[in-house]
Amino acid sequence: MHYYYHCYFYLFLFPIICTYDCEEVCNITLSVMENTSIEKLQWNLNDLIYNRTSSLEYLQFSLSNPSDYFEIELTKILKFRLIELDREKICKNNLLNDECSLQLQIFTQTSFIIIFKMIILDENDWKPLFNQDYIYLNIRENLPINYRVQLPIAYDYDSIQYNIDHYEFINNIEEIEKLFQLEKFHDELRLKLLKKLNCELKNNYQLYIIAIDKGGLKSNVLHVNVTVGDLNEYQPRFNQRFYHKGIPENISIINSFSSPILQINATDDDCYDKTILYSILNNDIPNDIFPFEIDKYTGLMRVKHQLDYETISTYRFRVKASNLDQITSSMVPIIIDILDVNDNQPLIQMNILNEYKLNENNDNFIININENIRLGQFIGTILIRDMDSTMINHHLSLKILSCLPLTLSCPIELDSGMENNIFNSTTYVIRTSRLLDIELGDEKFIIILEARDYGDPPLSSQRHLIININDENDCTPKFTQLNYQFRVSYSSPIGFFIGQVQADDDDYSPNFRLIQYKFLENDYQDVISIDVNNGSLFLAKQLSTEMKLNITVRAIDVHNHSLYDQANIEIFLFDETTCLPVFRQTIYVFNTSEHQMIPYEIGQVNVDNCLLSSIPISYHLIKEDSLSPFPFSIDSHTGIIKVIHELDREIKSFYKFHISSLHSKTQQLTQIEIQINILDENDHYPIFNNLHKEYIYISTHHHHQTNKIFITHIHAIDADVGLNGLINYYFTNKDHYKYFHLYPNGSIILYNLNNVHLPVRLEIYARDQGYPRPLNSKENIIIYVCDIYKRHECPINESPNKLRRNFYLGSIFIMISVVLILFIIIICIIWNLFMKKKLRRKENNKSYSYQIEARKNLIISDSLYDLSPIIHGNHRSKCLVV
Ligand SMILES: *[C@@H]1O[C@H](CO)[C@@H](O)[C@H](O)[C@H]1NC(C)=O
Ligand SMILES: *[C@@H]1O[C@H](CO)[C@@H](O)[C@H](O)[C@H]1NC(C)=O
Ligand SMILES: *[C@@H]1O[C@H](CO)[C@@H](O)[C@H](O)[C@H]1NC(C)=O
Ligand SMILES: *[C@@H]1O[C@H](CO)[C@@H](O)[C@H](O)[C@H]1NC(C)=O
Ligand SMILES: *[C@@H]1O[C@H](CO)[C@@H](O)[C@H](O)[C@H]1NC(C)=O
Ligand SMILES: *[C@@H]1O[C@H](CO)[C@@H](O)[C@H](O)[C@H]1NC(C)=O
Ligand SMILES: *[C@@H]1O[C@H](CO)[C@@H](O)[C@H](O)[C@H]1NC(C)=O
Ligand SMILES: *[C@@H]1O[C@H](CO)[C@@H](O)[C@H](O)[C@H]1NC(C)=O
Ligand SMILES: *[C@@H]1O[C@H](CO)[C@@H](O)[C@H](O)[C@H]1NC(C)=O
Ligand SMILES: *[C@@H]1O[C@H](CO)[C@@H](O)[C@H](O)[C@H]1NC(C)=O
Repeated sequence: MHYYYHCYFYLFLFPIICTYDCEEVCNITLSVMENTSIEKLQWNLNDLIYNRTSSLEYLQFSLSNPSDYFEIELTKILKFRLIELDREKICKNNLLNDECSLQLQIFTQTSFIIIFKMIILDENDWKPLFNQDYIYLNIRENLPINYRVQLPIAYDYDSIQYNIDHYEFINNIEEIEKLFQLEKFHDELRLKLLKKLNCELKNNYQLYIIAIDKGGLKSNVLHVNVTVGDLNEYQPRFNQRFYHKGIPENISIINSFSSPILQINATDDDCYDKTILYSILNNDIPNDIFPFEIDKYTGLMRVKHQLDYETISTYRFRVKASNLDQITSSMVPIIIDILDVNDNQPLIQMNILNEYKLNENNDNFIININENIRLGQFIGTILIRDMDSTMINHHLSLKILSCLPLTLSCPIELDSGMENNIFNSTTYVIRTSRLLDIELGDEKFIIILEARDYGDPPLSSQRHLIININDENDCTPKFTQLNYQFRVSYSSPIGFFIGQVQADDDDYSPNFRLIQYKFLENDYQDVISIDVNNGSLFLAKQLSTEMKLNITVRAIDVHNHSLYDQANIEIFLFDETTCLPVFRQTIYVFNTSEHQMIPYEIGQVNVDNCLLSSIPISYHLIKEDSLSPFPFSIDSHTGIIKVIHELDREIKSFYKFHISSLHSKTQQLTQIEIQINILDENDHYPIFNNLHKEYIYISTHHHHQTNKIFITHIHAIDADVGLNGLINYYFTNKDHYKYFHLYPNGSIILYNLNNVHLPVRLEIYARDQGYPRPLNSKENIIIYVCDIYKRHECPINESPNKLRRNFYLGSIFIMISVVLILFIIIICIIWNLFMKKKLRRKENNKSYSYQIEARKNLIISDSLYDLSPIIHGNHRSKCLVV
């Protein structure tokens, strides 16, 4: 049907001409839009050619070659094989003048072939695409204007109609477009510089570029990181014109690594070659002693050698800073002042007069002076010196730090020659400051001198001055007695030793103590002889007549005869057969302390025996108080007195008795009085005689005038005497002294009213001052000090207090009655004994011993009573009162 119509149409329009162009080669050209749906891409070939060929029969078609894109179905339907029609996929590589077409030859069974051409028309279905997202560009600074840098292009596979139109910046457009322009030239993209770049101004640009195609589609973004390259055009520049620093000379080298002394900082305005290397330029000081070093990279300066202000006080040098490429460099002067630190101690230099000088070493100076050196004698000078500057030292001083032995006053003094201003003198004169006497201990002095400066911190040094005192023979011999009395029997033989006189010379050196004894007159030289060296007197001639000798003896210093002493010697002659023994002393007094281990000796009595030694003398004790066990005994031969019973001063502190000596030949008695003092031992501890608990109520509000409140008075007693019985009181808690005074008389005063927090529990003990062992009271006394307005706060309220007092009264009453009953019983017993004794005395004189027994018992019981520690003399007297 179509054919006909076709032909009619032709006939109608061109009735004459009905041309069939498909004679041999039939060109069929079709244009289809890209992405036309596959269903539409099939054609009935017969339909396509029906009015172009004369043959009206149905033709059968076949492809000349197998095709990737087409196939023929049912011998007439030409069909596109792929699932989609994508121009860019099909014509990726064979675009011809931007036309994309598919061509194929189709055979028919008749003579002609069909050349089928399908032109695929483009749609803008491709976005432009940069293959990279990021590129890095380094553009050197100062390049000429219009310099161009190639950039990667974006791709768009669409036809010319739709492919890339232009590129543009998408960020920071205003700034960037002043400097850069994107230039699309043929298929290239270039970055054109509109100005010279300066890396010192800005060394980094971030460009974000997109491509836009003719259909208006935009590509992905290309990030161009532009770095502006550098030309080394600047010198390093220091941040100071010069560096000036003061550092103390004692800076520690170990620590300086953590704490540099100076930071040199140079910067370079070039934008890249910024690494600066520092080095020290030093021409003056040899490198091995140059004390500073610089960190090549950081410019931190450190000290590498110990500094010493006293050696070099200022360092001047330069530091060079250069770029890594060493092309440009600059230098800066450095001045480092070393600050003086007081690091030298003052030195003591002594110049001693030759006559006194003995020896000197580093620490000690030994000098010798004579005992009789005059007062104020110049001995030498002392110089003090200090290496440090006076700015640091301020001034120097010298003093005697100590002068040993401390028991004596120092024999020398330092004289600066300036009465009022001793501080800034550096020269001192050594003088003697007093007269010396070696016999009084001025034997050797060790004087420690100290020189100090007044720097910060002050330093000092010490030197020892050792003074040896030379002894002089300046002591006169002295007789031990002015009068010597000796007794010699008529019958004594020649050469009999009469006795000895003795004189002492106190001189320090033994040589100066040598003494000679001589009689002053020659009258008795033939009768008595004296030993020149030891003063022993001997009988030289048998005595015949009764005579009394009175001789003057002289003790003479061997080395200086003008030093001597005189004494009288009286010699009495007696008859052995008639003489009486005589005690050497008229009274003997001995001291002993109580409670010693018995038996022990306390002394000896003896008589001057005028008798021949063959006749014995015996000593006897005359007891007056025979009731008590007498604590002393005497050896009848030697006269040694011993203690045989323990002594107790608190029972009896003084004994007095007599001793007789019996001349066994003449039966003559001589008596002598003996006194024995019992000295105290600290054998009693203090006892409080107050209650052991006391409550004191005070008000702290009304005492602001005096600021003191009397609390109470405590009292303890100690049976010992002297310091052993002298009591002091103490708080067990030392904190209480902040608020309370505790006086030695036992008064307690609250003196710090403001800060005290009532109630306070005061615990007090007593201690005697016994030596060497003070004793504490066994029981402490406790005093509660409470606020009178806050009685409830007191640890115990007052009502038991009254009860307690009543209770005490009651118990005391009971005790008194018990004691009374005991007392009556004892009186009865004693009365009984007494009566019996009286009866016996009448019968027998020996009843004496009974009395002794009874009194002994009493004493024993008394002392037992006393041994119990609580009860004391005071108590005893109370009992007696009862
Ligand atoms: C058919 O097409 C081919 C090439 O496309 C051309 O060379 C030829 O001249 C055409 N023939 C006719 C009759 O148009
Ligand atoms: C065939 O018919 C078509 C329309 O159907 C027309 O466009 C074409 O020119 C005709 N061909 C010839 C050779 O007449
Ligand atoms: C191509 O055709 C498909 C389906 O018809 C459609 O989804 C797609 O958008 C088309 N592509 C273009 C570029 O027009
Ligand atoms: C640009 O490049 C430099 C050198 O590679 C780099 O240090 C810098 O981080 C880059 N900047 C950005 C924004 O990526
Ligand atoms: C240096 O001396 C000063 C005072 O003179 C002192 O305070 C400081 O500790 C000393 N430093 C060192 C490292 O010894
Ligand atoms: C050096 O000086 C520059 C510029 O004054 C400053 O930015 C930098 O922090 C300094 N460096 C040191 C280590 O002080
Ligand atoms: C030393 O003392 C004199 C007199 O007082 C005074 O003028 C002087 O300044 C002092 N010198 C020093 C270094 O202190
Ligand atoms: C004194 O000297 C004489 C003779 O040198 C000697 O016999 C005598 O024992 C001495 N006496 C004393 C007490 O030393
Ligand atoms: C002994 O003589 C001296 C002087 O020579 C004289 O002072 C003294 O009284 C005399 N003594 C007696 C007891 O005669
Ligand atoms: C002896 O001692 C006296 C008195 O001390 C003195 O004046 C005299 O110089 C001394 N003689 C000698 C030789 O030492």
